[in-house]
Amino acid sequence: NYLKIFSPATVANVSCGFDALGLALETVGDTMTFTKTITKGVKITKITGADLPSDPQINAAGVVALAMLEKHPVDFGIDITIHKGYTPGSGLGSSAASAAGAAFGVNQLLGNSFSPLELTQFAMLGEEATCGTPIADNVSAAIYGGFTLVRSYKPLSIVKIPVPADLRVVAIHPQVEVKTKDSREVLPKEVSLKDAVTQWANVGGLISGLYTNDYQLIADSLTDIIVEPARKHLIPHFDEVKQQAIKAGALGAGISGSGPTIFTLCKGDATAENVYKTIQNTYQDKQIDFNMILSKINTEGI
Ligand code: HSE
Repeated sequence: NYLKIFSPATVANVSCGFDALGLALETVGDTMTFTKTITKGVKITKITGADLPSDPQINAAGVVALAMLEKHPVDFGIDITIHKGYTPGSGLGSSAASAAGAAFGVNQLLGNSFSPLELTQFAMLGEEATCGTPIADNVSAAIYGGFTLVRSYKPLSIVKIPVPADLRVVAIHPQVEVKTKDSREVLPKEVSLKDAVTQWANVGGLISGLYTNDYQLIADSLTDIIVEPARKHLIPHFDEVKQQAIKAGALGAGISGSGPTIFTLCKGDATAENVYKTIQNTYQDKQIDFNMILSKINTEGI
């Protein structure tokens, strides 16, 4: 009758895989509770850690919960509390963490009626309500854990990709606002065949590297020649951070989702700590507040 869960923050795109790849973090995310109530319907009784609407019709978690109860009517209601463990608008899938968490939590109270794929579909409704587009990269990573590939949107098909054990994520979240909507408006409408070939070859290389623990192949493939060049001007000091991170040993660096967070992948704790310190030093004198993250990859999902 009561459930408490942790729903992870996620890095979408992972450089070359725009709207198709995501990964889940172990140490950053939302904590949510779900309680069965006598009064029917969905109520968001408490939100801490961020200023978000508690009306379930417009809250990412509420939208998802309502859709699930409509599909699977029951004679009880559900109260939800949300503690946001990180800032919305960071590019770390904040709305996705709440949406995916709601899908998972409500499903438990409904006796596990829906599959992970169906939960992803419900969670996408929360993304649509908050960002305007029903993107699956963040929510699938939160639900399945590890790396996920959205292999197809219609019909929805999600592939869970294995995670090499030594992979770490170091990220910096500069406190500037980048709205997903704005960040999608700067994208090119068309790409050349030459660029498309480079990009899909890198996606293949990255996936292959993850399956075979080939860190060099992961490093070589972790580039984005289509989306990153169009967006990076929205993120202060992006090039400098990326350059310094790679110099300090990161396998690669890129924009987390639609930004402004910059993520890096690193092999092993020592390198990750070095990259962490290097990025921190790079940003120290920039007059912009920022948060740093060092995390393992969450392989289990919610
Ligand atoms: N793939 C999305 C984007 C991230 O880059 O706009 C938000 O889900």
